[in-house]
Amino acid sequence: MAKERIVVGVDAGTTKVTTLIAEISRNNSVHVIGVGVAPSRGLRKGVVVDIEQTVESIAASVEKAERVSGYKVVSAYVGLAGAHVTSLNNRGVVAVSHPDRTISEEDVARALDAARVINVPSNREIVHAIPRHFIVDGQEGVRNPVAMLGYRLDVEAHIVTGAVTAIQNLTKCFHQIGIDVDQVVLKPLAASEAVLTDEEKEMGVALVDIGGGTTEIAIFVDGSVWHTGVLSVGGNHITNDIAVRLRTPFAEADELKIKHAYAFTRDVDPQEMVEVTTFGRSHVESVPRLAICEVAEARLQETFLMVQSEIKRSGYDGLLPAGVVLVGGTSQLSGIIDLASEVLQLPVREGTPHGIHGLVDTVSGSAYATGVGLILWGARYGDRATDMRSVSGRTARYSADTRRASGRFKGWLRAILP
Ligand SMILES: Nc1ncnc2c1ncn2[C@@H]1O[C@H](COP(=O)(O)OP(=O)(O)OP(=O)(O)O)[C@@H](O)[C@H]1O
Ligand SMILES: [Mg+2]
Repeated sequence: MAKERIVVGVDAGTTKVTTLIAEISRNNSVHVIGVGVAPSRGLRKGVVVDIEQTVESIAASVEKAERVSGYKVVSAYVGLAGAHVTSLNNRGVVAVSHPDRTISEEDVARALDAARVINVPSNREIVHAIPRHFIVDGQEGVRNPVAMLGYRLDVEAHIVTGAVTAIQNLTKCFHQIGIDVDQVVLKPLAASEAVLTDEEKEMGVALVDIGGGTTEIAIFVDGSVWHTGVLSVGGNHITNDIAVRLRTPFAEADELKIKHAYAFTRDVDPQEMVEVTTFGRSHVESVPRLAICEVAEARLQETFLMVQSEIKRSGYDGLLPAGVVLVGGTSQLSGIIDLASEVLQLPVREGTPHGIHGLVDTVSGSAYATGVGLILWGARYGDRATDMRSVSGRTARYSADTRRASGRFKGWLRAILP
């Protein structure tokens, strides 16, 4: 394989940190050569609350991936989440600059800059400005206006903003272990790269990632992103409730949840008992399995009602014919797909990451959609090559075509082309 560059993605989640190292070939195929997964401490609800613990968790995950690949990571695409993230759609307008009225990449970049002009308080910053579609002299639905003729160019863009300090705390953790941040990428956008099909995005679809501490959402209509958001609920809430109800340690409650939880209490035999080790007691007690399932059902119903209001809040009043694609560790809870479908009244499927080759076994589950999505993001839109040092100390530097050609928006233009 003709190796063009190396891309690294790090998903620091509430429960685990996943690092992927991939070789990107000249034809943009993604070959994973290093994977490292480590337990995460130091984040709550997707946000860094303890720098030292987060640094340790990231370092452990990165080191594992480095050992497997034989490379030392010096920069990475990093996932962002947390309730501080908000999004909106905005329009930017420019007059086409060339005298013969041919629209250039510079015009597109200026239009995008115009769309970025929104009232952002000083404690927030723009994380993404993604072109959704263009309008040339009033003609709507233009995917790529470059080389078209026109006087006026409008762009409809999706703007994601986040809290400056939350983003700085995250990047600080990487800097402390000598890793540069290539780009901070909103996690559900990254995950969408790994699990959604172009057809689903065209029809209308919502990606919902239910992890440990957050539920992350990205809604796509007409082939481009319409809305993104992060809710502060996740599988850990179910575990906490089980721990309180059955008076067990968190780890035991998590195990009980994974083993015995089912999303529909109506299908659970009230006589069925499971064994539990309770706090302060060395012996094992029997409790009805129903107690665990009641907690799971109630929490998940609540979560999907919140997802439903988020979809409504997005202002999209059409249907989402392709429904919902569920990812994240909690999407493996049995019965969750049917429960989601019942509450949301939409078709629901589980999303598993695709689009990568190489060491795919560890990251083939839906809990790794974000990690996989981050390297796909870097491969598809990255305008900056990741510099890597091999463990032997030899320095290797791979440059990307996009870096030589034109700035970041070029990748985005590719992204929205059919
Ligand atoms: N088989 C399973 N059944 C039910 N829940 C599961 C299963 N496997 C994992 N989980 C739950 O998934 C959650 C972790 O999901 P995931 O790995 O996607 O989280 P994360 O990315 O670390 O966190 P977040 O995205 O919220 O920051 C935990 O609450 C865990 O208990
Ligand atoms: Mg996650």
